[in-house]
Amino acid sequence: MIKNSLVHFLLWILIQLLFKVDCQRYFTPMQRHDHTATILDNKLYILGGSGYGGDSEFFYLDFSNKIDTRKLSWYDLSDMNIVPSHYGAASVKGGSNNDTLFLYGVYNSAIALVYTFDPRINKWFTPQVSGNNYIRKQFLTGVIDQRGKMYLFGETLPGGLIVDDLTLDTDMLILDTINLMWGKGSLVNAPPARSDYGATLLPNQSIIYIGCFDPKDKQAIGKIHLYDTITNVWSTKITIGNIPTQREYFSAVLGEYF
Ligand SMILES: *[C@@H]1O[C@H](CO)[C@@H](O)[C@H](O)[C@H]1NC(C)=O
Ligand SMILES: *[C@@H]1O[C@H](CO)[C@@H](O)[C@H](O)[C@H]1NC(C)=O
Repeated sequence: MIKNSLVHFLLWILIQLLFKVDCQRYFTPMQRHDHTATILDNKLYILGGSGYGGDSEFFYLDFSNKIDTRKLSWYDLSDMNIVPSHYGAASVKGGSNNDTLFLYGVYNSAIALVYTFDPRINKWFTPQVSGNNYIRKQFLTGVIDQRGKMYLFGETLPGGLIVDDLTLDTDMLILDTINLMWGKGSLVNAPPARSDYGATLLPNQSIIYIGCFDPKDKQAIGKIHLYDTITNVWSTKITIGNIPTQREYFSAVLGEYF
């Protein structure tokens, strides 16, 4: 009798395990926009976003092996998610081991400004960050340099309110993801407050900022802004050639550099 229940118990565990694996394999994420996407150890982690009800989902796609683009194997980690529903946050890979997901900008003044995710133990944390920063922003791109500093440029919205008002102050916040410390960069020669731009780090450690939501300046994409992370100096360059149409809500990725 006891032997029988043990067999049943083991079978039950096996079925649970199979079901769990199946669940992960056939998990289909909801459609979304304004989520974060971060690569850690060949896995693309997607968190939050808005639009279709999947805003508390957290999942990844594993690029360690060949992937079948017709049938993507998403892995669902939503059960481990402690980050409240949000959209328009910024994320990078950083930290002292350079393997931690840093998330900034969850838009609710009652909750943490910075969350971290450790992919080795699938756990989220709310780290203590020194330097007294209470500035919350949304719709920005986080860029990390080679010293583990995360640059958060863009508009600053007061009191946790979501407003589309580009006359607000702008800020260059710097989060040191290794020493867990806030700092501020320079605003001398910085472009006006902006959101929904594209940004990426160049090999010479300058961040390139391109495009943005700016109803007042339809030619803004022809002008690019560089922030040198070594000297904290802004500069502007005018592009030549066929200037693309103005855009916002896009992404910018550095390709092969010649
Ligand atoms: C972290 O890893 C990236 C490559 O994924 C590398 O470019 C960067 O320099 C590393 N950062 C640090 C602080 O070692
Ligand atoms: C960094 O590289 C960009 C692109 O080549 C260049 O325009 C910029 O002047 C460089 N910055 C510095 C400080 O050398």
